[in-house]
Amino acid sequence: MYLCICRAIRERDVDAAVRAGARRPVDVFRACGQNPQCGSCASDMRKRIDQTIGREQAAAPTLMAAD
Ligand code: FES
Repeated sequence: MYLCICRAIRERDVDAAVRAGARRPVDVFRACGQNPQCGSCASDMRKRIDQTIGREQAAAPTLMAAD
């Protein structure tokens, strides 16, 4: 599913960016080689970032704790 219509950024793109270290929407845009356009996706992107971080921490608590 697309989270950012303007730049065609999908949930899986956000997940990959988070796994690569993204923690803010601007980090996701950067990881995707894009710049934000309208910005209306920022709230949903933040939610997805938080959900993905939560899933990653639940899956590998010792690895995330080492950060
Ligand atoms: S929907 Fe993401 S910048 Fe417009």
